[in-house]
Amino acid sequence: MQSFLLESDVDEIVGRLTGVAQAFSGKTVLLTGARGFLGRYFMEIFAGLNEKVLDEPVRLVGLDNMITAGKTGAEIPNHPNMEFVNHDVILPFNWEGPLDFVIHAAGIASPYYYRAYPLETLEVAITGTRRMLELTDQHGARLAFFSSSEIYGDPDPQHVPMAESYRGNVSCQGPRACYDESKRVGETLCHIFHTMRGIHTNTIRPFNVFGPGMQETDYRVLPNFASRLKAGQPLNVYGTGNQTRTFCYITDAMVGFFLVVLNGVPGEAYNIGNPKPEISMVELVQSIERVMGCSVIHNIIEYPDSYPSDEPNRRAPEIRKARLQLDYEPVIELDEGLRRFLKWTDTVYTGNQ
Ligand SMILES: NC(=O)c1ccc[n+]([C@@H]2O[C@H](COP(=O)([O-])OP(=O)(O)OC[C@H]3O[C@@H](n4cnc5c(N)ncnc54)[C@H](O)[C@@H]3O)[C@@H](O)[C@H]2O)c1
Repeated sequence: MQSFLLESDVDEIVGRLTGVAQAFSGKTVLLTGARGFLGRYFMEIFAGLNEKVLDEPVRLVGLDNMITAGKTGAEIPNHPNMEFVNHDVILPFNWEGPLDFVIHAAGIASPYYYRAYPLETLEVAITGTRRMLELTDQHGARLAFFSSSEIYGDPDPQHVPMAESYRGNVSCQGPRACYDESKRVGETLCHIFHTMRGIHTNTIRPFNVFGPGMQETDYRVLPNFASRLKAGQPLNVYGTGNQTRTFCYITDAMVGFFLVVLNGVPGEAYNIGNPKPEISMVELVQSIERVMGCSVIHNIIEYPDSYPSDEPNRRAPEIRKARLQLDYEPVIELDEGLRRFLKWTDTVYTGNQ
């Protein structure tokens, strides 16, 4: 196990998947974005399933072009039955062997990075998804596409929490459009390949996942706060601080993602997140204070140039569909997730973000 994840979290996830994971036995999985935050968990969990659960091991092929994978992503683990290929999914990928599952998690997920790489963000979700769908079709496999809760944009308050049927309120020209709109097109591509070619596709819409393994230079809110805490600096809350989010701890999120990959109803999209509590960024600071048992100074500041403004005011998932169809239930409370995350960042982060 590599030091950048918590071994106990990976074990917890493997344990929670033991009853459902046998369907992977002897199968081949192609995972894109394999060296990103979620991709690294997928690799370690499959390694754990191979070791402890499956009758026949999964063969896993991981792809990543390393655009945002950073130093931690560059440490490629040496697990049996796993290989890694440095590949840009915008380009064709030739695969002659068998293929059963495609997990398309490549993307540019942090607002800081999609502001820096808008065209790459657009291309990975559109051309990259198209390429993965063609490959899935050629091999008679099934595909799970990582979309985002951002496809809902800035929701009308009467649609919060958002159900999968909510169509969203997204700007096609705003500072976040390269991400939101391309994820929407990626979903449309999955829908077309499902309806026209009969491929089993699923779309996953994660809602603010956090946990050990997030890079210090990720710049999403919790790594940002944790890095500043480590440096002994005040936390910077952007905008008004009243914008709300829900936060899903990594173990709950990964269990949900695996349930979609294994048991998603063909053609369907699923929200995966923890619906409670929906809190403002100022309340998030208060939660950190509660968990740390001390007060933390914070400043409310303008959005820096490096970070896209035009943030959704509210975001919270409705997860009834995943509960009913997949038996998905998040169990890690926010405070417990923060406790595990902050303990990990305290040993791994340097405070030099
Ligand atoms: N983590 C979350 O809370 C969250 C929320 C919503 C959506 N998502 C989506 O889930 C997926 C995984 O998220 P994450 O948090 O692991 O993101 P991440 O940025 O940590 O990892 C994504 C990985 O994809 C790779 N990548 C980007 N473009 C590529 C390309 N053209 N070819 C090959 N590899 C490429 C990057 O190098 C990186 O290693 C992304 O598609 C993201 O948009 C994540």
